[in-house]
Amino acid sequence: MSKKILIATDKPFASEAVKGIKNVIDQAGYELVLLEKYTEKQQLLDAVANVDAAIIRSDIFDNDVFEAAKQLKIVVRAGAGFDNIDLEAATSHGVCAMNTPGQNANAVAELAFGLAVYAVRNFYNGTSGTELAGKKLGIHAYGNVGRNVARIAKGFNMEVYAFDPFLSAEAIEKEGVKAVKTVEELYSTCEFVSLHIPATAETKNSINYELLNKLPKKALLINTARKEVINEAEIVKLMEDRIDVKYVTDILPSNHAEMAEKFAGRYFSTPKKMGAQTAEANTNAGIAAANQIVDFIKNGNECFRVNK
Ligand code: 3PG
Repeated sequence: MSKKILIATDKPFASEAVKGIKNVIDQAGYELVLLEKYTEKQQLLDAVANVDAAIIRSDIFDNDVFEAAKQLKIVVRAGAGFDNIDLEAATSHGVCAMNTPGQNANAVAELAFGLAVYAVRNFYNGTSGTELAGKKLGIHAYGNVGRNVARIAKGFNMEVYAFDPFLSAEAIEKEGVKAVKTVEELYSTCEFVSLHIPATAETKNSINYELLNKLPKKALLINTARKEVINEAEIVKLMEDRIDVKYVTDILPSNHAEMAEKFAGRYFSTPKKMGAQTAEANTNAGIAAANQIVDFIKNGNECFRVNK
């Protein structure tokens, strides 16, 4: 019997990405099932019931979903962060979970600069702003997105610094980026900090008052990572105490209404995470996910597996 591959995306891919995915699935002799813009969890539970594989974005795959997905063998998160998948539940249900690292990194990096320019030009309110050239940019975590941010920052003539606890200084510096030894040093050195850390038990709430208060005068924090890494109560206090600090984010904070009201002119959030929302990123990540599924089913390739 033909394998069924589900695309389950609350935030749909560009149509050309879906066509590209369908092409890979058709060529493999499998059947594509599409669930887009669903509003109720039950729709997802129904859709996973008889599929062998699933391609998702930030869609929540928790224990309930794995329980309902009786035939599921593989779920691929078309993107980098897999904090939306309950990895233990995947493992206990015998499901392989993967991501597609790097495939949407350029899109996210470009948006970081869109947000930065918007902020330093005072949210396009017509008043005199500042430029990025000559300023120090700190990249917090030097993975696929961080590397793309460094490349673009050099084009803006910024001085680029990075901190990554999993990389040596040599690995960072060979790419023409200054490595700092501690996260505190990154924040005390750079007036611009761009966040690229995943949401893990260690990083959640880690961007707190103490760290942010090390930022030099007239600093800008750019978040295209995850809202969970920010200590939301403490960033409010910080921005009350430091009226020179601005914050721009692509991930709507839980306290957005309070932030928007208190920090008008210093705070901006996109309404729905759109860093990876380009036709190119959707196509790259979506097709990579489809190819990984075909290679897993046909050849057992688990190269991008993220659960045990
Ligand atoms: C990622 O982790 O790849 C990005 O945050 C993009 O997420 P999205 O596919 O939900 O837009």
